[in-house]
Amino acid sequence: MTISGQLEERVNKFDFAAAVAGTPPRTPAQRSNLLPLTALGYQMWREQSLTLLTGRPLPLVREAAYFRALCRPQAGQTWLDIGTSSGFYAGVLARTGAQVLACDISPAMLKVAARRESSPLIQYALLDAERSGLPDASFDGVTIGATLNETARPQQMLAEAQRLLRPGGQLWLMTLARDGSPLQAALGRFGGLSFPDEAQLCAWLPQLEWVGSWRRANVLFGQWIRA
Ligand SMILES: C[S@@+](CC[C@H](N)C(=O)[O-])C[C@H]1O[C@@H](n2cnc3c(N)ncnc32)[C@H](O)[C@@H]1O
Repeated sequence: MTISGQLEERVNKFDFAAAVAGTPPRTPAQRSNLLPLTALGYQMWREQSLTLLTGRPLPLVREAAYFRALCRPQAGQTWLDIGTSSGFYAGVLARTGAQVLACDISPAMLKVAARRESSPLIQYALLDAERSGLPDASFDGVTIGATLNETARPQQMLAEAQRLLRPGGQLWLMTLARDGSPLQAALGRFGGLSFPDEAQLCAWLPQLEWVGSWRRANVLFGQWIRA
């Protein structure tokens, strides 16, 4: 068993259709991730994405090192990876010995992730992280790698992450912050993407203390801790 019995039972009972009934429609960006072709190509994009977005080399190995150095995930902890896609953060976490519930709304992404990052410490689950139905304070840590930009309800996703953290638990965000560019305006208009800035993120996380953040171009890494 990769995660605690109670958590596992709730994950298994999660009724995906009921959870998403009545919620606002998915953004075009979210819908694009349901396509098997997007899922197949995602890891290739992810390996280059931060280098392309920042204009300077920022490989996954450096992103992983930065995350590990700041958050120090460890064996015995349970983490939630929100919008795992090809399982990047889930894999980084499992290699530290932490147990991971890696969720996504895209069955195609989950299939790719389970093939790419397979570990007895990782459980993949079809879950909407804006309405997970999981018990309060279930996790020692939550990672959200770029998923926040895709949803039409970033505030709801953060509220859910906050609710799911235990006291002392950490939230790690990698997100594209607002830069006021025409490109972001177009991505917002046609892709449904949103680009919250740091002040907005802190305002949406009233029960968490901001530990620090690091920004290169419009890529923002941030760490919060639940008081
Ligand atoms: C930009 S990708 C995230 C990449 C991944 N976290 C990483 O760091 O490589 C966004 C992923 O989040 C998923 N997603 C979007 N909205 C979600 C939601 N409400 N709950 C769970 N997953 C979601 C998408 O299906 C997609 O696979």
